[in-house]
Amino acid sequence: MATIKCIGVLTSGGDAPGMNAAIRAVTRTAISVGLKVKGIMRGYHGLSHNDIIDLESKSVSNIIQQGGTILKTARSHSFRSPEGRQKAYENMKAQGIDALVVIGGDGSLSGAKIFAEEFDVPIVGLPGTIDNDLGGTDSTIGYDTALNTIVEAVDKLRDTASSHERLFIVEVMGHTAGFLALNSAIASGAEAAIIPEIETEADQLAELINNGFRKSKNSAIVLVAENPETGGALALAERIKTEYPQYDARVTILGHLQRGGSPTAFDRILASRMGAAAIEALKEGQRNVMIGIKNGQLVYVPFSKAISHNTSISRESLDLVKTLSI
Ligand code: F6P
Repeated sequence: MATIKCIGVLTSGGDAPGMNAAIRAVTRTAISVGLKVKGIMRGYHGLSHNDIIDLESKSVSNIIQQGGTILKTARSHSFRSPEGRQKAYENMKAQGIDALVVIGGDGSLSGAKIFAEEFDVPIVGLPGTIDNDLGGTDSTIGYDTALNTIVEAVDKLRDTASSHERLFIVEVMGHTAGFLALNSAIASGAEAAIIPEIETEADQLAELINNGFRKSKNSAIVLVAENPETGGALALAERIKTEYPQYDARVTILGHLQRGGSPTAFDRILASRMGAAAIEALKEGQRNVMIGIKNGQLVYVPFSKAISHNTSISRESLDLVKTLSI
């Protein structure tokens, strides 16, 4: 295998707090071992359109605490076509880039897998998504920050829910995963969590209304994972209107504010460790793997496993929401 002298780093898909910390760690670790570093703007779009900049140590100064990504991000259409990927490969070669570090979620890592297979390019991925839905890792960069953002918002909603004795349905992001909804429900003391992975035998809404709300409590908060198939929080609110018209329910869709903000210390440390590990991995000759974290230890996860989704969401956690909300 040819020696790696220059690496390109990109962020792709939905941004996640901690991506900047990862870019910083990738850049500075690479420089510390004598590699050149190029930043690819707007994810794969920048690779296909030759939008590439040099990164020095000072280019990544003062960014560890910033949300978003200094390299910008995009969901690239051009890279989905073989012609777009061909162009990307040509630009990469013309820029002297020998290997890539791709920071993103399942779509970004699926793109990396195809590109690596087609052009025999060494690529290491970092899990950058608030959704926590990648296989082989206990946590993704950005998940902890988003979770904390949700909990802070729900704490505020609880004040008004309690004053008005209302039921609030709060919809959170997660793509097709319920980690944000479930764990923010536990952390905020919500009365129920409705997530796509687990269908409960009992209708959670009916259970909540008949058993808990108004009998032992004067307010209720239900965390719902976004779900285009079922309609998420708005569909649930419609149901309440028809089936339980006596309740004054309100809907809050937290939306993109969950993706912003300064990363938590947890995400900064995770991103820094993973960013450094990506360079170590490339130096070791690893390719087509994502850096994951399992029980505190960094691990290499083949792309095929990373994109096969995180199936570790537990029924136990869902039961805990119920037990603790009586
Ligand atoms: O994957 C991250 C994520 O925030 C998902 O939770 C959400 O479904 C999606 O991206 C939203 O994407 P966009 O920013 O393109 O609307």
